[in-house]
Amino acid sequence: MTDRYAVVGNPVAHSRSPDIHAMFAEQTGQRLSYERLLAPLDAFEATLRAFAAAGGRGCNITVPFKFDAFALAAKRTERAQLGGAVNTLRFDETSAGGWTGDNTDGAGLVNDIQRNAGRSLAGVQVLLVGAGGAAAGVLGSLIAAAPARITIVNRTLDKAQALVANHAHLGVPLSAGTLTDAPAAQDIVVNATSTSLAGAGSPVDARVLARGALALDMMYGPKAQGFLDWAATHGAEPRDGLGMLIEQAAEAFFFWRGVRPDTAPVLKAMRTAL
Ligand code: ATR
Repeated sequence: MTDRYAVVGNPVAHSRSPDIHAMFAEQTGQRLSYERLLAPLDAFEATLRAFAAAGGRGCNITVPFKFDAFALAAKRTERAQLGGAVNTLRFDETSAGGWTGDNTDGAGLVNDIQRNAGRSLAGVQVLLVGAGGAAAGVLGSLIAAAPARITIVNRTLDKAQALVANHAHLGVPLSAGTLTDAPAAQDIVVNATSTSLAGAGSPVDARVLARGALALDMMYGPKAQGFLDWAATHGAEPRDGLGMLIEQAAEAFFFWRGVRPDTAPVLKAMRTAL
């Protein structure tokens, strides 16, 4: 029987993950299938159990189930534990007692910034805008790349402060502030808010951008355009979240199959397709 994988969410029809994993499987010669699985809002666990019983070997988890997946995983990787959310499950057994949860979003972001965009995070000033689930999921990986400082700004200050408190022991200086507190001249600015969902520009003032800064929105497609236009207008290098999406998928593929796909041709193909 072919090993089955899926992206589970609600909604899930928009997900590009099946295309990405199909390309990875072809490229690496791995025999597997990857589908979209719509889980009813009140039946996430039942949907996963049925999938595992029918040959499912693992899944990616998207909105709004990343916290449910965290709760469901019997074992968790350190980075999933730190972020408080799971975007990848591996079913080593059919029952939930044998499921391991990982979070590949942060590694995906860091790999995209460092390998694809060619920007080193080591020793630079990083501004993380937002303190919701998306920001929490990537902060640990950003810290592991050893920037000089990470400032987290958010509309709601106490959420930024909570993130700083949770990650304070990891050895990189962290500060929290409101959106208007954002410091000037940051080398790398990451938008992890959902403001781009409304087609808005940037939640922070352009003075945050150092000359030639990289300004990355974790979204891609039309949702990211307002932020990307803002970045380009103010002399920064704009970058959307497509590279991060493909890099987090590659981490998940490796977590399941032990084989690391080459992301460059997949990023090129997806860019052309969009
Ligand atoms: P996600 O999983 O996408 O991170 P989330 O946990 O709901 O979703 O977090 C959404 C993020 O976008 C938060 O940082 C939120 O700010 P608050 O914590 O103050 O709610 C931010 N956000 C959403 N709408 C916003 C807006 N109109 N202006 C500024 N920030 C906004």
